[in-house]
Amino acid sequence: MSGPQRGDRGGHAALLRAAAPEDLDAVVVIERVSFSDPPWTRAAFAWLLTAPHMRFVVACDPGSGAVVGYIVTSVVVDEAEIANLAVAPDWRWRGVGARLVDDAIAHAAAAGAGVVYLEVRQSNAAARALYRSRAFVAVGRRRDYYRNPVEDAEVLERRTRGGGA
Ligand SMILES: CC(C)(COP(=O)(O)OP(=O)(O)OC[C@H]1O[C@@H](n2cnc3c(N)ncnc32)[C@H](O)[C@@H]1OP(=O)(O)O)[C@@H](O)C(=O)NCCC(=O)NCCS
Repeated sequence: MSGPQRGDRGGHAALLRAAAPEDLDAVVVIERVSFSDPPWTRAAFAWLLTAPHMRFVVACDPGSGAVVGYIVTSVVVDEAEIANLAVAPDWRWRGVGARLVDDAIAHAAAAGAGVVYLEVRQSNAAARALYRSRAFVAVGRRRDYYRNPVEDAEVLERRTRGGGA
């Protein structure tokens, strides 16, 4: 990515940048409050920093520099997948998630991926609203995909060329 970018909804301007080892403590805190299924471990996030096909981006409070959200995307040949996304509870509804998703789509397109996939819990209204607003459409379902509680996943895709928001 080409340096920090600025989001502006609600007067808040999250900065996006590549994740670094010093971000992991904050990322793990956000992960634990955001997911029950089970949350990714610190070791899993640390591995992402070394994996060439994985892109791990954090959103930061422009004032304090604190990490307020993150997104993990993989690009393999011509397909991308959003593997993880969360925003700190105090920062939700301010456009941070949308900025992270838009950045991931732009990166996927630049890397040659024609489509971005992801899975989302059927009951996750916030995430489904976010993805709908970014022009993702449902293409399938994985039965009993999630644990704690057990629930189906909806598979969504977003084409990076020829249509979409
Ligand atoms: C899902 C999540 C990342 C959304 O992040 P966010 O920063 O609050 O989202 P944004 O403020 O960018 O909102 C994006 C869109 O989703 C909508 N939205 C966000 N939260 C919503 C909610 N709780 N209910 C309904 N719509 C919601 C917004 O209105 C906006 O739509 P618009 O662009 O049409 O106005 C955040 O709620 C989160 O971290 N949840 C826990 C982890 C999670 O579920 N991750 C996704 C796993 S697939």
